[in-house]
Amino acid sequence: MVNNIEVSNHNFCQWLVHIKLRKIVLLVIIILVGVTFLTYMNLWYVEKDSGITHGAHSHLDLPDESIAFNNYGSHVKDLYRIKGSVSAELRDMEFKRQKLQLEIQSYTKNIDQLKAEMVHQQTELNRLKISVEQAQVAQREALQQNTPELALPHRLVPNNLPEINLPVPALKSTHCRMFSCFDHSRCSLTSGFPVYLYDPDQYPVMNEGWDVDGFLKTTLKQVLGYNPHLTGNPKEACVFLVLVGEALKDTDDVSENVGNHLNLPPLDSKALKRLPFWGGDGRNHVLLNLPRRDLSASAGDVFTSIDTGRAILVQSTFSHMLFRPGFDLIVSPVLGPPGGDVWQECSRMLPARRNYLLSFQGEMKVQPTMSLEKIRDAETSEKSIKYSDLDKFIVGHLKDMTKGTTSDKFYFEFECVPASDDNFHAGPQDWSLCGTDSSRRAFLKESTFTLIFGPGTSDLVSTTLLQARIYEALRSGAIPVILGGDQVRLAYDEVIQWRRVCIFLPRARVTELHFLLRTIPDTDILLMRRQGRLIWERYLGSVQSSLDTVVAVLRDRLNIPPLPADTVAATSVFNETFQPIQVIVGLDTEQDESLGPLEPPYDSPAFRRNYSLMLTQGHEIWNDWGDPFRLYPALPMDPLLSSDAKFDGSGRGFRPIGQGQGGAGKEFSESLGGNNPREQFTVVLLTYEREQVLLDSIARLRGLPYLNSVVVIWNSPKPPSAELRWPEIGAPLHIVKAARNSLNNRFLPLDNLQTEAILSVDDDAHLRHDEILFGFRVWREHRDRIVGFPGRYHAWDINTQNSWLYNSNYSCELSMVLTGAAFLHRHYFHLYWKWLPQAVRDKVDEYMNCEDIAMNFLVSHVTRQPPVKVTSRWTFRCPGCPQSLSEDDTHFQERHKCINFFSKVFGYMPLMNTQYRADSILFKTRIPHDKQKCFRFI
Ligand SMILES: *[C@@H]1O[C@H](CO)[C@@H](O)[C@H](O)[C@H]1NC(C)=O
Ligand SMILES: *[C@@H]1O[C@H](CO)[C@@H](O)[C@H](O)[C@H]1NC(C)=O
Ligand SMILES: *[C@@H]1O[C@H](CO)[C@@H](O)[C@H](O)[C@H]1NC(C)=O
Repeated sequence: MVNNIEVSNHNFCQWLVHIKLRKIVLLVIIILVGVTFLTYMNLWYVEKDSGITHGAHSHLDLPDESIAFNNYGSHVKDLYRIKGSVSAELRDMEFKRQKLQLEIQSYTKNIDQLKAEMVHQQTELNRLKISVEQAQVAQREALQQNTPELALPHRLVPNNLPEINLPVPALKSTHCRMFSCFDHSRCSLTSGFPVYLYDPDQYPVMNEGWDVDGFLKTTLKQVLGYNPHLTGNPKEACVFLVLVGEALKDTDDVSENVGNHLNLPPLDSKALKRLPFWGGDGRNHVLLNLPRRDLSASAGDVFTSIDTGRAILVQSTFSHMLFRPGFDLIVSPVLGPPGGDVWQECSRMLPARRNYLLSFQGEMKVQPTMSLEKIRDAETSEKSIKYSDLDKFIVGHLKDMTKGTTSDKFYFEFECVPASDDNFHAGPQDWSLCGTDSSRRAFLKESTFTLIFGPGTSDLVSTTLLQARIYEALRSGAIPVILGGDQVRLAYDEVIQWRRVCIFLPRARVTELHFLLRTIPDTDILLMRRQGRLIWERYLGSVQSSLDTVVAVLRDRLNIPPLPADTVAATSVFNETFQPIQVIVGLDTEQDESLGPLEPPYDSPAFRRNYSLMLTQGHEIWNDWGDPFRLYPALPMDPLLSSDAKFDGSGRGFRPIGQGQGGAGKEFSESLGGNNPREQFTVVLLTYEREQVLLDSIARLRGLPYLNSVVVIWNSPKPPSAELRWPEIGAPLHIVKAARNSLNNRFLPLDNLQTEAILSVDDDAHLRHDEILFGFRVWREHRDRIVGFPGRYHAWDINTQNSWLYNSNYSCELSMVLTGAAFLHRHYFHLYWKWLPQAVRDKVDEYMNCEDIAMNFLVSHVTRQPPVKVTSRWTFRCPGCPQSLSEDDTHFQERHKCINFFSKVFGYMPLMNTQYRADSILFKTRIPHDKQKCFRFI
């Protein structure tokens, strides 16, 4: 731009000079001709005036006349000579004039250049001053911090097998709690919670005639193999898992040993005691009984009447007598697939109100079956008869409800049609399931709420049947209403807030049930349904999630931090034999504004909350935005200090503006300010075979304050050309080889991303430094959101009335900020690979498109907030660059399809609208002359 002006200026001068020259020449000619003419005329007149005297001579003095002519001729010649010399002189002067003019021009140009240079040097000086000041502050801080970072103790793991203790008496074991029966010395805080699994084939613990479901055995072994806590070394193990599995009557054996299997309980307590690391009392052993096929109440409990010593019991059916709160663990049956995507199993979340307000399908079976019935003595059976009366009343009342005057619809099936499968028979006095999985699912999909009865007898705290019903209800988005809910406990309730998912009611509330359900507005229905789906997908949906949850809950009890989240190793495209050529690039004329100190790379502090995170934010991590299975270096939701703390004892790392006094543009540009300690950001650039465009983009980052490093993801299988000259930008530059060409790579959780703030940019994005820094500063106040420049929105297709359209037109509402130029937290890179269903990433690969939409879905889903758009951009695409792949029509068509597909996967539309755009505070504000705006232009 500046160059252009200069060039045209120059042309203009030339033109002026040209014009002048022509004029002068014309003038000179006119003058010369004029002078000659005048002289001639003069002479003529002189002759005429003297004509009277000459007249006589004229005839007489011919020779005189010729002499006169000769005189004239020489005179004219003289005049010509004079003319010649005058014009030569004029030409000479003109030439000199031109030269002087050119000199003046070049001097003014020089002056301008020097002035610009001075401004630039002044800015540079200021920047250096700030940098020095900041470095001094950092140094002072380092000195004041009298202790080095706390050194991590060595990983403390036991190096011995459990010693043999005397078995605890059965009576004592019924009072087991963590403090009395668990050996904490095997599980130090820094141990990483190693878990040992007894191979169920090598150490069978089931009695003859009973067997662990084969599918479950292989699946469990396999999915536990993916759990990072699993260890093959029993010496270092904190807990020992014993797979008891679902107790299925081995049907082949039944025919031969009918009497035998009826007498024997499923679990062989002698086999338990023979386990090599049982240590006499089974401490730190976890007996896993995960039901899968038999959902009846009676078969769910395998531990009654068995001496399990100090082992922790994990199953779905517990009596109050057997269950030891805070010690044993209630789980949901493992009804899902082994692992992988489970979203297809779930129903859509909308409409909030479905066809039936409330539904129930079940049949009361008062059919005594074996094991539990034997244990229950006469007094409980008396109680159960009483409950049975209450149940009769309840059923009667529910039937009356259907005949009410409202238009609410109910679906109640108290006798199964067709008759229930024998496999699903209930225990004594319990409701059995009706129909098949898919027939029940069809009704649940149509129900806003679904009724679930608490266990038929009051001595039960949980039954497999109850847990299975919860599982099915959540999967289909029917909100469970548990009558008798004050009696039960649901799976993992020490960490999961079930009140946000289910409605727990005492049986006596049945008369108020209809009233209660009608008062619940759509927002809360959707909130509960969404929460239910979150719990289901995260903790119940697959065998893998169930097992990971069991391990995580036990670990959480001991407040041992999870293992750190996996990162992807960043392999450079360069190696010893292939090194990049780095060159210093010229000054960038854009940067004539001092925007902040140039500092050496400073990584964001990581893993500061290993032992306090789960204490302070455990609830949110389990139930909202968190991932309780892994530890992350930092979270977007990390808490902030109050603003006085940094002046009163916790000031380290903070860079308050004007040292706390505040200030306008000048002071603002000197310190980062804000509510967080100082930090920097990393630029992540995704590139594919556009080398020059990439190099230009990188070069523009030179001298950018707060830049930690630049990570280029090299998506092309071809390595970069050897002769490429990589610009030196004052920050480390990593060129990372991608395993394959995929847009998902934009969000790889690479191990060399050292800051929480990531600026994700397209290789052809052209952002100015002030825009970048303003974006960074805004992001620091919205760390959990996408903060960036190109806004887009999802629009309802009013023609089809059933789908979404992607829209990039001018609009006063937006719902997405594209990651071609946006700041976002590194944590979302992990979630993108870990939490997004694989189907989403597959769709991105299928279309080579939409990864930015997917990220917007993810972040809005996690935060329930729209993205933040910052300031109107001055520059974005580079004008001369080749067309990016995001312009043509198929690109748009694909994006429409992506939006609709993603909302199907999420079960709802997570994107949210916003009308908000962040501009810097003093933008367009009239301020006194001695003050500066926050940024010169934005
Ligand atoms: C280094 O990288 C180049 C280009 O990718 C490759 O051709 C070469 O074999 C590599 N050399 C080594 C030692 O890995
Ligand atoms: C916290 O955990 C991380 C990851 O395991 C580890 O690297 C770091 O040293 C731990 N910090 C402390 C203070 O324990
Ligand atoms: C954007 O606006 C133009 C003109 O108003 C319209 O023709 C076009 O369909 C719009 N694009 C989308 C994607 O809505």
